Amino acid sequence: MIILLVGAPGAGKGTQADLLVKRCGFRKLSTGDALRKHIRENTPIGKSAAAIMEQGKLVPDDVLLEILNAELGNDPAEVIVLDGYPRNLNQARALAKLQSPHKVCAVAHLDASRAVIVDRLSGRRVCSQCGTSYHVVEKRPSKDQICDNCGGAVVQRPDDRPDSIATRLDVFEESTAPVLDYYRNGGLYDKVEADGDPEAVAKALQKVLVSRVEKCR
Ligand code: AP5
Repeated sequence: MIILLVGAPGAGKGTQADLLVKRCGFRKLSTGDALRKHIRENTPIGKSAAAIMEQGKLVPDDVLLEILNAELGNDPAEVIVLDGYPRNLNQARALAKLQSPHKVCAVAHLDASRAVIVDRLSGRRVCSQCGTSYHVVEKRPSKDQICDNCGGAVVQRPDDRPDSIATRLDVFEESTAPVLDYYRNGGLYDKVEADGDPEAVAKALQKVLVSRVEKCR
């Protein structure tokens, strides 16, 4: 069973997916994380995706489908939180046609305002080794630029620079917002207010997902 987390960059999809993994035993599948792993490992996918991601644009649909097919798995008992896919109508249609035991049972739209998003993304810093997330004001590592978790270097994500943030937000409006319309009338869609602190968002999100997952089982 698949739960889709859809929202603009910085809406908190990754943060909420991690909480769902910890608290509900679901599995997270983040297409952004999968692509960054390809880049770290210098695979052909990583080589072709790096520059596109740095600019804040979308990686081609066929690459994403390849990643999805490789990562979804075939265990029908698993609940997978899909973070970052689909990002356009073509991907939404591909997901609907996918030969897989997993079917979409919930579409949670994390809805955050632009000002909140820009603050979160422009202040974000991440560990280059383990991916732990920090913020220049809200959550600094105890030692400057050194990850508390693994000692790795804490850096700015290349696509968190102002011009890339602006492109990512434009891409969301142009390509991903229509995906929300696609799901809105399908009976699986819930909008969750995502400007609040992570715990407030988690409470609202988990409330809607519990009943969606129960209905699907
Ligand atoms: P991806 O990694 O998916 O990036 P994104 O969608 O831009 O999402 P972010 O990770 O920036 O934000 P998020 O909503 O997950 O928020 P997070 O929890 O991290 O994709 C990167 C790129 O890969 C894309 O631009 C594209 O190039 C490519 N790609 C990926 N999927 C693709 C696809 N399907 N098709 C084509 N290309 C694809 O939080 C952000 C920050 O805010 C963190 O610092 C966090 O600590 C903080 N925060 C989160 N929630 C809160 C809260 N409630 N209160 C305060 N701070 C919060």
